[in-house]
Amino acid sequence: MMNQKLIFARAYESAVGPQIPRKARPAFHLTPWVGWMNDPNGFSYYRGQYHLFYQYNPYDVEWDEMHWGHAVSHDLLHWTYLPCALAPDERYDSFGVFSGSAVEMKDGRQLLMYTGVRKEGGDKNGKDIQVQCLAIGDGVDYTKVEANPVLDVDCLPEGKSPNDFRDPKMWREEDGTYRCVVGTCDAERNGAILLFRSEDGFKWAFESVLIENDGRLGRMWECPDFFSMGGYDVLLVSPQDMLPDGFEYHNGNGTVCMIGHFDREHGKFTPERDQAVDYGIDFYAPQTILTPDGRRVMIGWMQNWDTVKLTDYEKRRWFGQMSLPREITIRNGRLYQQPIRELALYRSRKVEYRDVKFDGELTLEGIEGRKVELDMCIRAADPAKPYHKFTLRFAQNEKYHSVLSFRPYESLLKIDRKFSGSRRAYIHQRRAQVAQHDGEIRLHVILDRFSIEVFVNGGEQVMSATILTDVSAQGISFAADGEITMDITKYSLFAEE
Ligand code: FRU
Repeated sequence: MMNQKLIFARAYESAVGPQIPRKARPAFHLTPWVGWMNDPNGFSYYRGQYHLFYQYNPYDVEWDEMHWGHAVSHDLLHWTYLPCALAPDERYDSFGVFSGSAVEMKDGRQLLMYTGVRKEGGDKNGKDIQVQCLAIGDGVDYTKVEANPVLDVDCLPEGKSPNDFRDPKMWREEDGTYRCVVGTCDAERNGAILLFRSEDGFKWAFESVLIENDGRLGRMWECPDFFSMGGYDVLLVSPQDMLPDGFEYHNGNGTVCMIGHFDREHGKFTPERDQAVDYGIDFYAPQTILTPDGRRVMIGWMQNWDTVKLTDYEKRRWFGQMSLPREITIRNGRLYQQPIRELALYRSRKVEYRDVKFDGELTLEGIEGRKVELDMCIRAADPAKPYHKFTLRFAQNEKYHSVLSFRPYESLLKIDRKFSGSRRAYIHQRRAQVAQHDGEIRLHVILDRFSIEVFVNGGEQVMSATILTDVSAQGISFAADGEITMDITKYSLFAEE
């Protein structure tokens, strides 16, 4: 029987969600049907389509009691909302149905594993008790299993915190058995990832501490994902309370990719290197899937916990969006990301300029818009006379604009949205140290109505940021300090929307 909370959430979202005009949302980045969204959950391919669930509070544009929202897609770009999948309606998840994952079972049903949260002593200000729970379903309706929670404090190794024990990412091994990784921390809030095992998907047991934070990468580690790719094993985690490490990591919540090797016998993962997943402002808690044609695709929450409470005054009916799905690979020991190739199906109105030489301000006929792809290659017009700065302005009108700028001397790429029309003094800019190859930098920019994602040098690094600028600000312009030569290709994206 469906619980009241779920019935209510489903009735609410299907009544209020359709009132949000299509144009008030991004064209191809997923937003919540209504209300608040954070982490992607249960990213999976099931019965012929992609499923993406998300941390969801339908009733307000702020985080509160978490549900799982649900959407499906054939191309990861056009999404159809399905009814809310899970509500916090049991004793063990009464404070929230937190992040988790999905797999298809041998018998064809879809298994969801999530973190159920309740409050110690039932007091809203009490400590969280976090446990792992299961729900089983057919792609639309899910039933929480009787045996919940399937992983609780009794499964934790010595010293790990039952108050921070969350975000199971589950997968099926080739032999049909199941594994999951879960984030936790110790009394000092030093993060760790635990590995659990199950024969049938229902009964779970502790296997090993996969890895512990050596104190270098933030504190508690949230939202792990663990998979093999390109001859390596890869762990994605989202640490809280990071300290900056040069330009590699920034303060606050960040996302780290560790590339290394998994010793199956001892259940230990040893990273050889680590790097930021996204060097921009807004990206967190990514999950990946393997597509039916064998691509590893990652999607993240295109926001940052340090800026979410500080949105602009005007209350929108939705808050939070997912990043563009990105195809990921390992090259030269680094994580490479490319916009999902399906995006190319929705290109139109190609405009191309080659060898544009300029110093000062520049606008180019046919280059404007808020749903746009720009592929730019920038170099000094004369290699003997290096330039000082290249600037791209976008989402521009007489008053507002945002900026992507590059200083070749320091090789720093900067995103800056302080003039984007925001009334808040939150984090508006971030810089990344990038490479120049043969004196050139390549910037592949994807704009949707309320975001920019910049793929640098063929996906060597990515910077993402959201903006709130009114969509009537359609301008794009360029500036150079010193003479630059630029090649640029522009496409309109989703022009029909
Ligand atoms: C990460 C996170 C997860 C948790 C969820 C709660 O953004 O804090 O660790 O499951 O959000 O909404």
